[in-house]
Amino acid sequence: MRTNDALQTAARAKHDEFYTQISDIERELHQYRSYFSGKKILCPCDELYTSSFVKHFAENFDAYNLAKLTVTCYSSVTPSCSVKTPEDFAVRRLHGNGDFRSPECIDLLKDSDIIVTNPPFSLFREFITLLMQYGKQFIIMCSINALTCRDIFPLFMQNRIWLGHSIHGGDVKFTVPDDYPLSALVCGLDEDGRKFIRVKGIRWLTNLDHGCRNRDIILSRSYDPELYPRYDNYHAIEVSRTKDIPRDYYGVMGVPITFLDKHNPEQFEILGITEKNSPFRKKNAPKTDRAYLNGKRLYARILIRRRRKSRKKAE
Ligand SMILES: C[S@@+](CC[C@H](N)C(=O)[O-])C[C@H]1O[C@@H](n2cnc3c(N)ncnc32)[C@H](O)[C@@H]1O
Repeated sequence: MRTNDALQTAARAKHDEFYTQISDIERELHQYRSYFSGKKILCPCDELYTSSFVKHFAENFDAYNLAKLTVTCYSSVTPSCSVKTPEDFAVRRLHGNGDFRSPECIDLLKDSDIIVTNPPFSLFREFITLLMQYGKQFIIMCSINALTCRDIFPLFMQNRIWLGHSIHGGDVKFTVPDDYPLSALVCGLDEDGRKFIRVKGIRWLTNLDHGCRNRDIILSRSYDPELYPRYDNYHAIEVSRTKDIPRDYYGVMGVPITFLDKHNPEQFEILGITEKNSPFRKKNAPKTDRAYLNGKRLYARILIRRRRKSRKKAE
């Protein structure tokens, strides 16, 4: 590996080392308790003694009536697989390094029902692709920015994945190793002297229904062409805040990614995202990567359209 590649790999690996707080895990997971009964849970990116996901499932093993909890730890030194059942608990060394993409970890994935973890963000696309490939149910953490990529966004459009219920903005606190680089991120020390960072744009992602979906967004604004300009390069109007979606507009609208926090698939259809292959891109438009408004490049926009059938209900 060239020095530059090695440095990038090391930096990326370091960036992946942050640990989810038990309070965030509890807030989200309790909503899914009815799914856990009799199920085999896999935490595939978790260290047995330090992961709060493991702590949460070990503590609630009986309350959730779990059939099995499997935990694999990625490590070049001590890769391990721990398995708890109602009768037994065993830890063994893995043959490889515990990479979730390795054949032995894929076998464990195939044998599990629900995958629950905060995976390495640098490998998020590969991680979710694997879960979808094997048709697994999951509750995982992610960065909202990762959701707009080509492999993941269509899953939202097809209503096969959606956001969890407990995190919809602000920043999330993660503990990090003591040698984590302080620069560029909001860091601090918690009351126990552990270093933490605050990360914006974190969400839970799942394909389990958590009971908070399918609530209509309350719409109070009316469409006015002066207030909702059309993009230079897309056949759509700009709606810069989800709460400002006009209640009486049934054409294509561009909304921020955070629309996903509120999305009710019975109320809106997700048509795509602003990208160069979008069917809503204007022919011969010079700029195609993002939506432009009077020459100004905007953040990524999701293209949506109101469903007619929810018209009466939402107004
Ligand atoms: C964001 S951290 C989260 C750790 C833990 N799941 C938690 O939430 O506290 C992601 C973890 O994935 C591990 N990891 C990195 N690459 C991996 C891989 N290829 N396979 C499995 N785990 C990996 C990292 O070592 C890191 O501990």
